[in-house]
Amino acid sequence: MKKLYIETYGCQMNVADTEVVFSILGEHGYVRCESLDEADVIFANTCSVRDNAEQRIHGRLIQFALQRRNRPVVIGILGCMAERMKDALIETGKVDIVAGPDSYRHLPEMLEAVSEGPQMDVCLSRSETYAEIVPVRTDRNGVSAFISIMRGCNNVCSYCVVPFTRGAERSRDYHSIVREACRCVSDGYKEVMLLGQNVDSYNFEGTGFAALLAMVAEACPGLRIRFSTSNPQDISDEVLEVMSSHANICHHIHLPVQSGSNRILEKMRRRYTREWYLQRVAAIRAAMPDCAITTDVIAGFCSETLEDHEATLDLFRRVGFDYAFMFYYSERPGTLAARKYPDDVSIEEKTRRLNEIIDLQNSLSLESNRRDCGKVFEVLVEGPSKKGGQLCGRTMTNKMCVWVDDTHKAGDLVNVKVTDCTQATLFCELV
Ligand code: SAH
Ligand code: SF4
Ligand code: F3S
Repeated sequence: MKKLYIETYGCQMNVADTEVVFSILGEHGYVRCESLDEADVIFANTCSVRDNAEQRIHGRLIQFALQRRNRPVVIGILGCMAERMKDALIETGKVDIVAGPDSYRHLPEMLEAVSEGPQMDVCLSRSETYAEIVPVRTDRNGVSAFISIMRGCNNVCSYCVVPFTRGAERSRDYHSIVREACRCVSDGYKEVMLLGQNVDSYNFEGTGFAALLAMVAEACPGLRIRFSTSNPQDISDEVLEVMSSHANICHHIHLPVQSGSNRILEKMRRRYTREWYLQRVAAIRAAMPDCAITTDVIAGFCSETLEDHEATLDLFRRVGFDYAFMFYYSERPGTLAARKYPDDVSIEEKTRRLNEIIDLQNSLSLESNRRDCGKVFEVLVEGPSKKGGQLCGRTMTNKMCVWVDDTHKAGDLVNVKVTDCTQATLFCELV
């Protein structure tokens, strides 16, 4: 038995992929370990979406290399950075294996061959979905599991490296998705998150996302269903209809806007306008008044003016997002934006605009939480909260609740009443 340690960076897809890698290598005698010091094989499953994500990995590689002082250790880079940097990683002299996101079935052979020299496989596939592989779950509490429903991305957002690192979009057979959801139920999971870069374009032999969502919700009525990410261009009324007519589908939509300015959206090659986005938000609220809406935004994209930035702030105020992931623009080699547009907003100005968005969102999150004060929610217990004697768990709208409780445990559904809040947390009592 060899011990395999994997550090996972980046998005939830990478978490799901790490679970696939543990499964593939588990069949070949590798067992998971959770400390660097005992590992025979150390992998980093990496992210390339922003430069600082890659810089962190370079730092970690130095740490990993230190492990080789006392014993032989195989070091590998998996995921998006492997796909983007290819041989440049091998040339650092610090890595033995470079494996892109579609090559994980070859890891056992690559590990076998590593004594002969560094191994690399960065071929992207048009069909690989790892459909029948049963993931080895790595979550801490056995409550919530990720299910990958598609891979790759067919959009060409001009700032984004994902289409280069993950290849063309392909959808996984829905039979295997439903089977995996049912297996989650029998393994004791209470919630699943269906994952894709653009879930609304799921299409397996004519079955679209709305139908898939209904299928999973109906096959597993006791399971909470979440999904991410929805593209504003593609989110359909049918999906909203399926969400509002199935009690176990969570009322939360992650709907990345990226910018509130039409000029910038066009330059980003997002295929919607701010008016379209606001109209989709209105459609969501008409179908489900209680639905949480969260977003991603990029501050300081190429040529962004103060007026464009103001348009983003204005859109944030109009929508009143419940939560947002906020970044400043990071130029990624090879993307359309890197080739065509100068990265001409200074780092100081990007930071200033980003901080302005963060400050605004913090107040919007607080307002959103204040609106929930006095309400009763069903929450899924995740486990003890940081503070002793309290449990934490999430509402269907993905808000974190904490309350005093010594009778329930992770995986239970309990009703709590919100008594107070911060921008990040709802403080509750059991009802
Ligand atoms: N498929 C998802 C996004 C995946 S990447 C979607 O289309 O919404 C996650 C987020 O990272 C993006 O929504 C975007 O806000 C951010 N991001 C992507 N490329 C970036 C870049 N070059 N600089 C800064 N942020 C970026
Ligand atoms: Fe990137 Fe756009 Fe695809 Fe999202 S939809 S992964 S932002 S190219
Ligand atoms: Fe990062 Fe790749 Fe996900 S670039 S965000 S790990 S798809």
